[in-house]
Amino acid sequence: MLRSVSLMLAAALLTSCMVKEEERLNDPRFPLEPHLILPVWFPSNGQVAAGATTGQALDQPLPFSHYLHATKNQIDCEYCHVSARNSIHGGVPQLATCMNCHKFVRTKSPNIKKLKEHFDSGTPLEWNKVHDLPDYVHFAHNRHVRAGVQCTECHGQIQLQGQPRYEEETVDGETMQVVKVDEVMIRETTLQMGWCLDCHAGHPSIDQNYGDNADLRRAELKDCWTCHK
Ligand code: HEC
Ligand code: HEC
Ligand code: HEC
Ligand code: HEC
Ligand code: HEC
Repeated sequence: MLRSVSLMLAAALLTSCMVKEEERLNDPRFPLEPHLILPVWFPSNGQVAAGATTGQALDQPLPFSHYLHATKNQIDCEYCHVSARNSIHGGVPQLATCMNCHKFVRTKSPNIKKLKEHFDSGTPLEWNKVHDLPDYVHFAHNRHVRAGVQCTECHGQIQLQGQPRYEEETVDGETMQVVKVDEVMIRETTLQMGWCLDCHAGHPSIDQNYGDNADLRRAELKDCWTCHK
């Protein structure tokens, strides 16, 4: 009896969530298709978010694996991406951060030798940008991270990307396991205007952080000026 009541409750809750979601998706105040609300005079140079899209990884200078670092070795995102909380940039880590470990870890691997060469000569690795908004869009990491929006809500399951394969190789006469990564990193989300607006219309942190003023904050967050200034 108790069980069937709680099942019914769960079902009711689920339907009410679904109705909410449905309502939100069809709410004319928060159109998901950007072009529906664009006045014709708004200057646009046709730029769209660039970078790799799902399924196509860019060539990168090193086969860096998020899976090996963030999942297998449990390194926190913000240990490497230190600026995400404090600046508008997510920020790719400096080589000194990598060398904190790679002074000692897998130093014989050709990949780590290359890393060390760059570190010693002071030439940064030129990572290709995977997430790149058009220049006319204003975005700030710190506002999001401090509000409690998770990296994965916007970037997808980064910690699972870069599944490694180990291959036996002979380096300087010594046989060792070298890490190979086929797909270094891909962009999982569109970064399009409708995607930003959809979250701004309904992210739970806004109610939590603004209480009675949440509606006001939501109104600010769909103002064109918030993202185009
Ligand atoms: C907190 C320690 C730590 C930091 C910081 C770190 N790594 Fe690693 N890295 C590891 C460990 C441990 C492995 C071995 C993973 C395994 O195979 O289980 C590894 C493996 C690698 C490999 C594969 C090595 C091979 O055998 O071919 C590369 C490439 C690599 N790291 C690059 C980097 C880069 C680039 C940075 C900086 C952005 C970095 N790492 C920062 C711990 C670290
Ligand atoms: C050991 C250091 C390290 C850790 C830990 C780490 N990253 Fe990274 N991250 C990098 C490096 C190096 C790059 C640049 C290479 C690349 O694009 O694959 C990068 C790239 C990225 C990018 C893409 C940058 C672009 O060009 O758009 C995102 C997004 C990102 N990381 C998010 C995360 C998230 C989320 C986590 C935690 C789950 C995380 N990272 C953990 C080192 C790290
Ligand atoms: C609200 C969505 C959102 C959240 C949350 C978010 N990011 Fe980003 N991230 C983006 C967007 C959008 C870009 C592209 C920015 C650009 O091109 O100006 C980006 C770019 C990046 C980059 C590339 C370098 C740069 O600054 O352009 C890295 C690295 C990154 N994010 C890491 C992280 C990490 C780590 C976290 C969590 C601590 C995180 N991001 C949280 C949306 C987000
Ligand atoms: C997963 C949810 C989510 C996504 C996706 C998202 N945002 Fe946000 N954004 C928020 C939340 C929540 C806030 C409010 C933070 C606060 O007020 O503390 C915010 C705040 C902002 C602000 C700060 C406004 C100010 O007053 O300073 C800007 C700018 C912004 N977002 C731009 C963007 C852009 C551009 C995109 C798309 C590329 C985007 N956001 C995608 C959740 C999101
Ligand atoms: C939450 C952030 C956000 C808000 C608010 C926002 N935009 Fe955008 N806008 C974006 C992003 C991100 C892009 C880049 C879209 C892409 O690459 O598809 C964009 C793109 C555009 C473009 C170029 C589209 C194209 O195809 O060339 C125009 C025009 C535009 N926005 C106008 C507006 C107007 C007008 C408003 C207010 C009614 C507005 N935006 C509100 C984030 C925002």
